[in-house]
Amino acid sequence: MAIRKILTVPDPRLRQKARPVKRVDKRVQALFDDMLETMHAAPGIGLAAPQIGVGLRVIVLELPEEEDGNPLTGQPIFLANPELVSARGSEEEQEGCLSVPGFVGYVERATEVIVQGLDRRGRKVRIEANGLLARALQHEIDHLDGVLYVDRLSGPDKLFRIVKEEEETSSEAAHKERAEM
Ligand code: NI
Repeated sequence: MAIRKILTVPDPRLRQKARPVKRVDKRVQALFDDMLETMHAAPGIGLAAPQIGVGLRVIVLELPEEEDGNPLTGQPIFLANPELVSARGSEEEQEGCLSVPGFVGYVERATEVIVQGLDRRGRKVRIEANGLLARALQHEIDHLDGVLYVDRLSGPDKLFRIVKEEEETSSEAAHKERAEM
């Protein structure tokens, strides 16, 4: 496993549409592992392959255990070729992106989603999610299409600059609140 460099705006690779993986082989599993390690080191709660310059439809997520309402919190979620098959409701909440450092935005997203894809062993999985996990899944799938959360803001007043990491007293609490992905 290796920590990879996270690309930031305006890197053009963040704007390309990623291609589906043909099958989840050892190479894709190694990519999953590198992405998880990179995401943990950042730290973040989600990461998409284009963020490390790999144009494949591969995402990883891991929400803190204390994030209620989802049985999938506190463990890594690996998805290749994720597809949003259903979305309900809408909610405007805060999110940040590891590729857009120094900012957070208030973004309208569906509150409940169903996502299908392939897991780390290449098996078909279906994830029903709400809350922060639903938001993170939509954010990461957007990355695969070259879309960043800043594209989805309803206006410039929805984007906020944040203080630098080293100025924060509790980086863990601040991180959870900001939910960078
Ligand atoms: Ni992001």
